Amino acid sequence: MGSRSYSQPAEGWGNTAVSQTPIPPTPIPSPSPPFNTLLPPPFRSLTKAMPEQTKVMGKDWADARREGNVDRLRLTLQTALANHTAITFELGCGHGHWLAAYGAAHPEEFCVGIDLVTHRVERSQRKQALGKLTNVVFMKAEATEFLDALLPTQKLAKIFILYPDPWPKKRHQKNRFINAANLDRLADHATPGTTLHFRTDSEAYHDWTREHLAAHPRWQLVEGAPWPFERTTFFEDMMKAKRDLLAVRLP
Ligand SMILES: C[S@@+](CC[C@H](N)C(=O)[O-])C[C@H]1O[C@@H](n2cnc3c(N)ncnc32)[C@H](O)[C@@H]1O
Repeated sequence: MGSRSYSQPAEGWGNTAVSQTPIPPTPIPSPSPPFNTLLPPPFRSLTKAMPEQTKVMGKDWADARREGNVDRLRLTLQTALANHTAITFELGCGHGHWLAAYGAAHPEEFCVGIDLVTHRVERSQRKQALGKLTNVVFMKAEATEFLDALLPTQKLAKIFILYPDPWPKKRHQKNRFINAANLDRLADHATPGTTLHFRTDSEAYHDWTREHLAAHPRWQLVEGAPWPFERTTFFEDMMKAKRDLLAVRLP
């Protein structure tokens, strides 16, 4: 008896017409989830075309797919970022440890973290929801597509890149996020004084980034600045080493 649900008729009820038709349980309406606790459908397809897909389907297909991603993302950002004009941005936020902690400690800043990998973004979003962080949004997006989708008014005030994939093999170095074109992309959405904080365990990627920043006309390296906010990330925990760089967007 104790385990019977209310929708099952009890023994002996069969004598009345009412008991023949069990009353289905009234569905409990669920409150609509807050914006950034779910991955809405457009985000699911927002992944970079894999090189092998491009090889099979061709460059036109890859370009069209990318254009579609950017268009959908632009629409989403209109709502998700609303009127925010100074964004603290984490590129490749992984499981969201760092940005969730940063956002909690800086309620006056509006923080956006993006990552390519769905389950990492979902974990990040759970941290946002648990912490009730109304100033933090996590999204699944590819970084160059996200930057291309930003509206001209949506500016990056601070940029954080923590433990980006180091691509240690020489033939893979072209995959590193830091290159002249992406430093230009970041500069396009920054304002004079925007800070770019870069942390890696990899000596090779540290040197590579230092060289690219030093050679770039729109970023200036700042030596010896302390890392602005410490919270161990998932990858930092594995790698341990910290090599930091700071650059400021020039006027
Ligand atoms: C080595 S992990 C570091 C994650 C996190 N920052 C940390 O320290 O734990 C690099 C992350 O960058 C993400 N990533 C790589 N390329 C990306 C891109 N083009 N756009 C968005 N995220 C990217 C990966 O999915 C991965 O989660």
